[in-house]
Amino acid sequence: MAKKYDQFRCQPRLPKFAIPKRYDLKLKPDLTACKFSGAVEIRLQIVADTKFIVLNAADLCIDSKSARFQSEDGSKGFEALDVELLIEDEVLVLEFAESLPIGVGVLSLSFEGTLNDQMKGFYRSKYEHNGEKKNMAVTQFEPADARRCFPCWDEPACKARFKITLEVPVELVALSNMPVIEERVDGNLKTVYYQESPIMSTYLVAAVVGLFDYVEDCTPDGIKVRVYCQVGKANQGKFALDVAVKTLGLYKAYFETPYSLPKLDMIAIPDFAAGAMENYGLVTYRETALLYDDKHSAAANKQRVATVVAHELAHQWFGNLVTMEWWTHLWLNEGFATWVSYLAADGLFPEWKIWTQFLDESTEGLRLDGLSESHPIEVDINHAREIDEIFDAISYRKGASVIRMLQSYLGREVFQRALAKYIKKHACSNAKTEDLWAVLEEESKEPVNELMHSWTKQKGYPVVSVSLKDGILVFEQRQFLSSGYLGDGQWVVPITLLCGSDQARISFLLDKGSQTFKIDASSLGSWIKVNVDQAGFYRVKYDDNLSAKLRYAIENKQLSAMDGYGILDDSFALSMAGQLPLSSLLTLMGAYREELEYIVLSNLISVSSKVARIVADADSTLGDKIKMFFINLFQHSAERIGFDPKQGENHLNALLRGELFTTLAVLGHEETLKEANKRFQAFLEDRNTHLLPPDIRRAVYVAVMKKVTSSDRSGFDLLLKVYRETDLSQEKTRILGALGSCCDPDIILEILNFLLTSEVRSQDVVFGLSVSREGHEVAWNWLKNNWEHITNTWGRGFLLTRFVSAIVSPFSSHEKVREVEEFFASHGEQPSIARTLKQSIERVQINANWVKTIRKEKNLADCVQELAFRKY
Ligand code: BES
Ligand code: ZN
Repeated sequence: MAKKYDQFRCQPRLPKFAIPKRYDLKLKPDLTACKFSGAVEIRLQIVADTKFIVLNAADLCIDSKSARFQSEDGSKGFEALDVELLIEDEVLVLEFAESLPIGVGVLSLSFEGTLNDQMKGFYRSKYEHNGEKKNMAVTQFEPADARRCFPCWDEPACKARFKITLEVPVELVALSNMPVIEERVDGNLKTVYYQESPIMSTYLVAAVVGLFDYVEDCTPDGIKVRVYCQVGKANQGKFALDVAVKTLGLYKAYFETPYSLPKLDMIAIPDFAAGAMENYGLVTYRETALLYDDKHSAAANKQRVATVVAHELAHQWFGNLVTMEWWTHLWLNEGFATWVSYLAADGLFPEWKIWTQFLDESTEGLRLDGLSESHPIEVDINHAREIDEIFDAISYRKGASVIRMLQSYLGREVFQRALAKYIKKHACSNAKTEDLWAVLEEESKEPVNELMHSWTKQKGYPVVSVSLKDGILVFEQRQFLSSGYLGDGQWVVPITLLCGSDQARISFLLDKGSQTFKIDASSLGSWIKVNVDQAGFYRVKYDDNLSAKLRYAIENKQLSAMDGYGILDDSFALSMAGQLPLSSLLTLMGAYREELEYIVLSNLISVSSKVARIVADADSTLGDKIKMFFINLFQHSAERIGFDPKQGENHLNALLRGELFTTLAVLGHEETLKEANKRFQAFLEDRNTHLLPPDIRRAVYVAVMKKVTSSDRSGFDLLLKVYRETDLSQEKTRILGALGSCCDPDIILEILNFLLTSEVRSQDVVFGLSVSREGHEVAWNWLKNNWEHITNTWGRGFLLTRFVSAIVSPFSSHEKVREVEEFFASHGEQPSIARTLKQSIERVQINANWVKTIRKEKNLADCVQELAFRKY
C-alpha cells in the first residue's frame, strides 16, 4: 500500500516548488531543562503551482496550529490542512486546501526541541564555573543538522538571508553569525537581536549561549575579531587571535576579495565532535584546536591551532561565500580549505617549512585511496545519512593533493589569478567542480577539465613504473592497490623528473598506458628522481638499477627532503603490496640513518612502527630483532637532538624530539625508558619543572605506561592523577593517547573501561583507542562486549567510525576477517559505518597477505640480523 505523501519520500533532494529567501528565526534555549522553543518566519518564492510546501525537519515537535502561509501583501492567509513529519526522510510536508499563489509569501511555524547531548543540531555542552556544573547551548549544523534546530531547506544550494533573535538568561553571552544590533532586558531574560546576514547556506547558521571570556583585536579594515573561551582562560586565546587577524589579511590579498562580514568570532567549545566548524562569522572549535598555553602546550599543539584556524578561515571564502552546489562537491570545500591552510601557515611561519609537511596529507590520501573500497573525490550522495562518511581522507587529503598537483602543473601565478576570479564570479552563490575547472582553463589556456577528470571522477591512482634501457626511459602506468592487485584505471599523469648530474627538470603528461623518453647521454650514469617534490598524486616504482642509484643519493644527502620522503613512502607502499621485498625496504631505511630533515625522519618513524608491528605478527623472534634495528637506526638522531630543548632551536626540532623519543619508548629502548621515568618523577613533584617540557611529555607518558604491569601499576595511577588534575584539554588528550602503550592486557581492559566513564568526554574517547599489540585482542573483545552501549552513545555521529577503524584495522589474519564480518553481520545494518567497516576489513586482508609474504621471504632473517647489529 502506498504510504501517505509517498512522492516526497526517499528523494535525495527537496522538490523545488518554493525557494526560501529570508529566515526570521527566534530561539529560546532552556539550559536547565535542556530544551528549546523557537519560531520561524520564512519568506518564500513560490515558483510552481502547488498545494504543498516541503522542507526539512527532524527531532522537532512542530506546532501544527502555527503552520500558516501568508501572501506578501498580507491580503490572503492559508492555514495548513495537514502537517506531517516524515521521520525517516527528515522531511516536513505542509498540505494546504488550495494552490498557493505564485510569487512571494511568508511561511510561519513554531516548534520545540531538546538540547541534546549528541554534539549535533542544537546541543548542550558541559562546563564548570566556580566549581558549579553548567550547560551551554551550541549549534553544529554541518552537514545536515540545521533541520534538528528549525524547519528549513537544509541543502547547501538553498541560500538565504538570516535574521536571528535569541532569548537567553541575562547574565550569559549569546553569540550568532552577525553582530548584535539590540538587546532588550526583561527581568532575568534578555532578547538579543542580530543584524541580518548576507545570503548563506543553512549548515553555516550558528548560535552559542554560555559564560565566556574573550580577547579582541581588529584588522586594518576594521573587522572586529574575538576569541572566546572558558572564563579565566582568555590568555590562551591570544595566539589564535593573532593568527586569525593575519590570516584574514593574507586571504584578502590572495582571493582579491575582503572577508565579507563585519565581525569574526572564534569560540572554544568543551564538547565538540569535529575539530572545528567554519560557521559564517562564528567559528566553533574544540579547545585543543583553538587554545594555546605558553607553558604547557607543545610545538605540535601550536601548529595544530594555526592550521585549524587557517583552515576554517579559508572556508569563509571557499565554502561560505562560494558554496558547493551539492555534497558531491564537498571536496571543493574541504580539499581547498586544507590546501589553502598550508598557504597561510607558510606565509605566517616560514620556518615551519609547512609545505614539506604537506606530504603527510598526500600520504594519508594515498593510503585510503589504495583500497578498492575507496570512492571518487566526486561521490554520489542520495541520503543525508551518507554525507558524514565522506568527510574523509579522500575529500580532504586527496582533494588537497590533486589541487597541489594542478597548481604545480599550471604555475602559482596563473593559479592564484584563476582562484580569485572563481571566488569573484561565484560569490554569494554556489559552484560545482566543473565551474572551477572552467575558470582555471580560461585563465591558463590548458585543458584543465580533461586533465582533472581522471583524478576526481574515478577512485584510485596510478603507480608509474620507470625503467632505463639503452638510454631510453620507459614509463608505464597501472592502477595501484595496496592489496597488490593492479586495477584498470588510467589517468592523465603529470610526470616530472630530476636528473642528479645537471639538476635538469623535465616534465610531460603521461596520458596513455606507457610512454618512452630519451635522456641525455650525460645523465645516464646519475640518479633520476621521478615525481619531483612529490607534487603528483601517484606512486613511482623504479627498476633495480635506478633504485640503487637513488639509495646512494640518499646516503650522500643529494636529495631534497620531499624527494627523500617520497622514495621511502613509495617503497613502503610497494612493500606492503608485495611488490618490493621487505629486505629491500629495510636496506633503504638504513640509508636514512644520518638524515636531519624533520619530515623525512618523521616518515621514517611512522614507517618503522608499522613495519615493527607487522613483522611481530609474522614472526615474534624476527619482531624482536627488527626492534633492535630500529633502535639502532634512531639512536643517532636521538643523541643529536637530546631530551632537552636547545637554546634558539627551531620548531621542527621540537616536533622531531617528541616523535623520536615516543618511538624509542614504544620500541622499548631501555635508556629512554629510564630517563623518561626519572623525569616523570620530577614532574610529579613540580608540574612546571624544566625537566619535562611539553614537547616530550607524550614520549614520557608512553615510557611510563610501558613499565606498567598488573603487579606494578603505580605509573598508571600517577598518570591518571595528572589527567584528573589538569584543566588543559591538550594535556588530557596527550595522556589518553599514551595510556594504550601499556603491554599488560588486564590494564588495557581497565583503560578501555575508564574511557567509558564520565571522566572522559565522549569527544575524546577516540584518543584512547589505539592500544599496544599485546592489548589488541582485549580491545576487540571489549568493543564487542560494549557494542550496544557504544552505538547508543556514538551511533548518531561520525565518531563511531573511529571505534571501528582503530580497533579492526590493525588485525592481520584471515581468521579475524571472518570473525569481524560475522560480528557485524549479526549486529544489524549500520549504514553510517558501512563504508568504514568495509575499508577496515580490507586493511586486515592486506595485512594478512603481507604477513604471508613476509613469512615466505628468504634471507629476510639474515638481512635483519645484519642491520640490527651493524656498527656505524
Ligand atoms: N567543515 C568541517 C567541520 C565538519 C567536519 C563538519 C565533519 C561536519 C562533519 C571543518 O572545516 C573541518 O574540516 N574541520 C576539521 C579540521 C581541519 C583543520 C582539517 C576537523 O574537524 O577535523
Ligand atoms: Zn573544513
